[in-house]
Amino acid sequence: THVVTENCIKCKYTDCVDVCPVDCFREGPNFLIIDPDECIDCAVCIPECPANAIFAEEDLPADQIAFIKINADLSPKYKSITKRKEALPDADDWNGKPDKIQFLDQ
Ligand code: F3S
Repeated sequence: THVVTENCIKCKYTDCVDVCPVDCFREGPNFLIIDPDECIDCAVCIPECPANAIFAEEDLPADQIAFIKINADLSPKYKSITKRKEALPDADDWNGKPDKIQFLDQ
């Protein structure tokens, strides 16, 4: 599967959802996840993310491994999102900031 990682938090650009052929993105207050049961590993979302937050599971940086479980756990809680929308207001300021996991609104 593919996994949304920490740099999506507080950015949520949503460019990723427009290209997903199986509508596998789910939206929370300040983060998106990929439903691991729906993702077909097409990888088209990876280059669309301005925050470079999406990785194939096998390519995850070591410090982002926890996001496999975070995506899976939040998948039933979050709602489907299939159309791009405005990014969060300070997305460009938060893009690339470290340690954003503390701000994850579940
Ligand atoms: Fe998040 Fe990147 Fe999509 S910031 S909402 S994974 S385009």
